[in-house]
Amino acid sequence: MKILRTVNDLRQFVASLKADGHSVGLVPTMGALHAGHLSLVAQANSRGDKVVASLFVNPTQFNNSDDLATYPRKEDDDFRMLQEAGVSAVFAPAIEEIYPEGVGKASENCHFDLGPVAEVMEGRFRPGHFQGVALIVSKLLRFVEPCRAYFGEKDFQQIAVIRRMCETEKIPVEIVSCPIKRAESGLALSSRNSLLSPDQLEVAPEIHRALQSSVERSMQGASVAEIVADVTARLDSFDDLRVEYFEIVDGITLQPVADWDQTPYIVGCITVYCGSVRLIDNITYRRPDSHNC
Ligand code: PAF
Repeated sequence: MKILRTVNDLRQFVASLKADGHSVGLVPTMGALHAGHLSLVAQANSRGDKVVASLFVNPTQFNNSDDLATYPRKEDDDFRMLQEAGVSAVFAPAIEEIYPEGVGKASENCHFDLGPVAEVMEGRFRPGHFQGVALIVSKLLRFVEPCRAYFGEKDFQQIAVIRRMCETEKIPVEIVSCPIKRAESGLALSSRNSLLSPDQLEVAPEIHRALQSSVERSMQGASVAEIVADVTARLDSFDDLRVEYFEIVDGITLQPVADWDQTPYIVGCITVYCGSVRLIDNITYRRPDSHNC
């Protein structure tokens, strides 16, 4: 596996893969890898792509400086895991390689048209976050020009925003969304889980448990408003958990729904603070038969 630090080296390496007739799949990451990231690599391998992973803690998408400072970093472990997973190259640039104009300037000058999917939920609670995500993902897609790019469904809204960005920026790539990977406890795998204390690791799986039982309750006739109130109250009843938002939305437009029969694809998206660690998760309530994930 090649470790590439500059855009020039990345472009040259990708060109050699393409010259040899390979399709290239991009797996963008911020490192501190876990089985969720490796499932993206496995998905790309299974489609016959040569995999280029990126490992870059992108400062422009952090709207909270403590969150950026404490974000876990484990570069050597990450390289070893990517190599074992069969990745062809990892692009791990310095901040200056990506933002030579400075992070502040890059953020200031960044105005993607991300539409209504970026205005709700994470967009409301993390101003500027999706502009930063769009900025780094658009740069990576332009450097690599992959056939496909792979993203995990834990960040459900992020996938919708990236799809919109690719449309408006006219970036020709297939965005492949891959199912959430969970620990045995049900907790959605996340790099941030490594920041949880043993006690918090005990309570955090309550998030998935509450979502799962809410699906059953929705089948038994509970209304959207009842589910939102129940899940929020159940999770807020734990000392270490605080729900930031829980919204039940159309799976395509991400706008809130009021009734189960309003639209065929319905997803519940939640963000919960476990102590000071911000965790996100989601669950599907209704899915049209034809929807491909
Ligand atoms: O999902 C992530 O880890 C990040 O938002 C991404 C897509 C790698 C962009 O920095």
